[in-house]
Amino acid sequence: MMRNVAMIDAPPVAAGSAAPLDLTAIRRDFPMLRQQVHGTRLVYLDNASTTQKPQTVIDRVARFYLEENANVHRGVHWLSERATEAYEGARTTVARFLNARTPQEIVFVRGTTEAVNLVVATYGRSHVGRDDEVVISAMEHHSNIVPWQILCEQAGARLKVIPTTDAGELDLDAYASLLGDRTRIVSVVHVSNVLGTVNPVGEVVRLAHRRGIPVFVDGAQAAAHMPIDVQAIGCDFYACSGHKMFGPTGIGVLYGTSDRLESMPPYQSGGDMIRSVTFERTSYASAPHRFEAGTPHIAGAVGLAAAIDYLDAIGLERIAAHEHDLLGAATDAVARIPGVRLFGTAADKAGVLSFVLEGVHPHDIGTILDREGVAIRAGHHCCQPLMDRLGVPATARASLALYNTRADIDRLSAALQTARGLFA
Ligand SMILES: Cc1ncc(COP(=O)(O)O)c(C=O)c1O
Repeated sequence: MMRNVAMIDAPPVAAGSAAPLDLTAIRRDFPMLRQQVHGTRLVYLDNASTTQKPQTVIDRVARFYLEENANVHRGVHWLSERATEAYEGARTTVARFLNARTPQEIVFVRGTTEAVNLVVATYGRSHVGRDDEVVISAMEHHSNIVPWQILCEQAGARLKVIPTTDAGELDLDAYASLLGDRTRIVSVVHVSNVLGTVNPVGEVVRLAHRRGIPVFVDGAQAAAHMPIDVQAIGCDFYACSGHKMFGPTGIGVLYGTSDRLESMPPYQSGGDMIRSVTFERTSYASAPHRFEAGTPHIAGAVGLAAAIDYLDAIGLERIAAHEHDLLGAATDAVARIPGVRLFGTAADKAGVLSFVLEGVHPHDIGTILDREGVAIRAGHHCCQPLMDRLGVPATARASLALYNTRADIDRLSAALQTARGLFA
């Protein structure tokens, strides 16, 4: 098993310190970053889509299948007890990472998309009725729009949308005026996957809670990039995706306060979510198991816990500081290229840089950059309503993670100059 170089070689730092990252050591932890693409070193700047995996996560998933694989919760045999311990241990790790009050507030799901669908199908179906209102924002990912839209269509409710300012921030005055007696839930993104805006979710919650309205926060783009404290935010629900946090695909997290979760009906039904079943009546298990019908993604949960251990060992404060520095450098470098228009200039911004280049379609930018070994994303980023607000059909997007370097930004900038030269 490969040793975790970053954890061992990183200089000791006090908790909360923003000492620089040992990028050489960190990059050694990620086998994918050794790849050559089109004969040159891969520069991976598509981290908002998914992140690469450190060796410790790959090894942990392999070890689960090599030494611990069995089904959870139902077995009395030794192996099943080990698998259950690993799975429930992962829940404890996630609870600590998000600062939940107890592991029972952590539901394992497939990802952020399933977390939204779970809350829509349970809390939403039982609380949103005719003429009620659901509030989301103009910068939501489709996964935090479409499920609410379907719910509203079925219930005869209305979807209300918080507008964004030209800088790409939530218009909080408009938000406050949208909240009313019919508002049943607010659902907003913590960090925009297009604009990079870090939304003031604590304030969003405060305004909603004054009226007794619960708040769901989509943390897909936040969880691996800054410390998250769900108690400090005060939200009722928080969701994130393992694969965007250096963990496996197919595993994610829904945090819900115990009160909320316990008051919600089941999501999917079947094995493992019941207390007792007769043909006349079924009673359900407590949260979180009530919401985890069937055999869960045990290896995924265990791998996610390894990813969290990896992040914790480096420190989220340091990761946030590193990405903030890099974002500044990337913004300067890209803004200097003639014909570039950047989107998202919020005062509080995470490592996402969206832009267009005059005369070059974003897909062409993506293709040319790929030939230069630079992986970015081009398209609507599952945010078509936001694209309409920005007045473009698509953008190019570079998104950062802890392993990116100044050299990566130089390569991005050089490749963009090449693209510009080709279309000049
Ligand atoms: C802000 C945001 N929310 C939700 C999602 C959906 O995440 P997943 O596909 O992992 O469910 C994404 C994915 O890009 C995202 O960026």
